[in-house]
Amino acid sequence: MFPPRLVRVSDASRIPSLGQLHAMNPAQQPSYADQAELADVIARLRTRPPLVFAGECDELRTKLAAVARGEGFVLQGGDCAETFAGVTAANIQNKLRTLLSMAVVMTYAAQVPIVKIGRIAGQYAKPRSKDTETRSGVTLPAYRGDAVNGFDFTPESRRHDPKRLLETYNSSSATMNLARALLTGGFADLRTAHSWNADFVRSAPVNERYTELVQEIERALAFMVSCGMDDEAMHTVDFYSSHEALLLDYEHAMTRIDSRTHTPYDVSGHFIWIGERTRQLDGAHVEFLRHLRNPIGIKLGPSTSAQDALALADKIDPDREPGRLTLITRMGAGRIRTVLPPVIEEVMASGRQPVWMCDPMHGNTFTTDNGVKTRAFSDVADEVDGFFGVHEQCGTWPGGIHIELTGDDVTECVGGVDELGEDDLGERYETLCDPRLNRNQSLELAFTVAQRLTEGRIKRANPVQEYTPKTF
Ligand code: PEP
Ligand code: CO
Repeated sequence: MFPPRLVRVSDASRIPSLGQLHAMNPAQQPSYADQAELADVIARLRTRPPLVFAGECDELRTKLAAVARGEGFVLQGGDCAETFAGVTAANIQNKLRTLLSMAVVMTYAAQVPIVKIGRIAGQYAKPRSKDTETRSGVTLPAYRGDAVNGFDFTPESRRHDPKRLLETYNSSSATMNLARALLTGGFADLRTAHSWNADFVRSAPVNERYTELVQEIERALAFMVSCGMDDEAMHTVDFYSSHEALLLDYEHAMTRIDSRTHTPYDVSGHFIWIGERTRQLDGAHVEFLRHLRNPIGIKLGPSTSAQDALALADKIDPDREPGRLTLITRMGAGRIRTVLPPVIEEVMASGRQPVWMCDPMHGNTFTTDNGVKTRAFSDVADEVDGFFGVHEQCGTWPGGIHIELTGDDVTECVGGVDELGEDDLGERYETLCDPRLNRNQSLELAFTVAQRLTEGRIKRANPVQEYTPKTF
């Protein structure tokens, strides 16, 4: 067990103040017209109860440490941008169901614990490449996620409104509340796995495959129960929330000093990450997050050099604490096989053991001739394949995938089992930001990952299989 970091109580006072962070000119922040209103919102958020507990963040860190050692795999997924309107029981339940069914597929094939992290209950702010958007000659501020402004293309809706930060807290809280209730109240019971896909008729092959797998699991469970084994672990699951820590006002206001350890945790989510556009080594986001005790992710795009990755790792995780650091590579299907190997080699040569995760979404976005933002399932699968291939070649453990998905039957990404074409995208295109895999495409990707986890050196390197046959 890694010894707890020795932290003096006075460390808490070393979190930079919001004023100090803003003085660093942080990227991708809203510009609020009324600073007094913002100050009032921040003051209110500072007194709100935590959405997650520090101890849960520690527990996740411990699990991520196991993943980094090759003893587990992370499934992180959810919307690109959650919306306030999307906080409905059906929506949340469908997303959880998709994640759970993916996790079952992966667990059964790979026989490793799957650490489930939702891009959920806090993913309301988006970095944008342009500050403004122009439609028919009218230019307005770009949509930056419901935490900042509205999607409707009117001056009133696009205004940056600090009160939305309170709504962000409330929406995250409602989502977390339902997720916790569902996951501990029977919804995640493995005996209900057959029902997670029950209402899904489209695309028989992937659903048939899922049904067959669940029937196999049910036979195994029935066998275990008849042998007298009925473990609590079969009835509930551990599930964690995550989002990009983009809005410093919100994240700072949601930071609390843990009463057990006197150290700071961002209690707006268990796992928080720094995006590709805000990971400047001397930037305010890195400066702030390096003080927090949550497990931290950093997105690494195709321009990442090994030196960049190492410098970020040194800054965020100077103590090399197991489970602290997750490097989420999102290089694109065409680049991953050349850009990732030197990054891995340098980081490993420095003696670090981060969780290596693959985000096969953000390096593979393109716009169709009709002007629709999409991704091809084949590119997503190809980047995942490249990720496994590179890690296999480097002798490192591919620790997880980070994907944008929804539990609904949307048509936002082309290809996949339903062979969605560009002309189908208009049918049900609902995302307010990036295109997401629908439920079938997500499940299909889970089967692809499951397959890779059972092959070649990756399989042989898997030390977690606790069940080994014996001869008497
Ligand atoms: C995202 O995860 O939605 C995102 C914006 O990713 P990135 O920072 O990798 O571009
Ligand atoms: Co996105």
